[in-house]
Amino acid sequence: MATRQLLAELWGFVRDSTPERRRQRYGDADYDWEHRVNTTSAGVSWRERLLGVFHSPYQPTEAILFHEMLDALLEQTHADFRDFVFIDLGSGKGRALLMASDYPFRRILGVELLPELNQVAQENLGRYRSESQKCFSLESICANATDFSFPMDPTVLYLFNPFPESELRKVIARLDASLQAHPRTFYVLYHNPLLDHVVTESDAFNKIGGSHQYAVYEYRQRPTVNQRPL
Ligand SMILES: C[S@@+](CC[C@H](N)C(=O)[O-])C[C@H]1O[C@@H](n2cnc3c(N)ncnc32)[C@H](O)[C@@H]1O
Repeated sequence: MATRQLLAELWGFVRDSTPERRRQRYGDADYDWEHRVNTTSAGVSWRERLLGVFHSPYQPTEAILFHEMLDALLEQTHADFRDFVFIDLGSGKGRALLMASDYPFRRILGVELLPELNQVAQENLGRYRSESQKCFSLESICANATDFSFPMDPTVLYLFNPFPESELRKVIARLDASLQAHPRTFYVLYHNPLLDHVVTESDAFNKIGGSHQYAVYEYRQRPTVNQRPL
């Protein structure tokens, strides 16, 4: 990270530590009161927030927007979620995992870098109860997403600003290699797609929809080296 950018991030960290900013962050706690879980960014310790400056700060996805994105994905692709794994890379306290369980995914998996956040996510997964829940196979692991090996199943990959550009490039390159070795149906749902160009430049994905708040990409199966015309 360049010195100027680092100073700007650190200034943001100090500003966000004031009591007024902390109160503002409690604005994202409605979901927690409703579901008796802990996914707000307000309760994140200063240590985790400082680490967030170097990776990506924790912020949970808004419930209304999450359902808007999933409903749009369903409408666009007509995917049968019962065949799909939902993966959130950079899953934080697990809110997106809980919300995804309102859909009939075969399995839901979160990958979070910071142990303290992952610990809270695991507690949330154990505590969550909802009448609308349709998937009960939920897991959150503590790992660096750049080392993550994607399962061979049809997948909806969810990204909410989890990494800086260099890390996103590594994840997409690893994913591309996995898809070339084992082609399968694969959608990427990218919330707040600041690094959209990294996904579109990769040649592995077609953008098939979205809005200014999110983008939907579909894996584009390419002929293997042997199948390409000479
Ligand atoms: C903006 S939050 C998104 C939280 C969650 N996906 C949600 O939508 O509610 C980004 C998360 O990515 C995590 N993160 C950053 N770098 C990571 C990495 N290399 N591997 C795994 N998680 C990472 C951060 O710790 C943070 O919890």
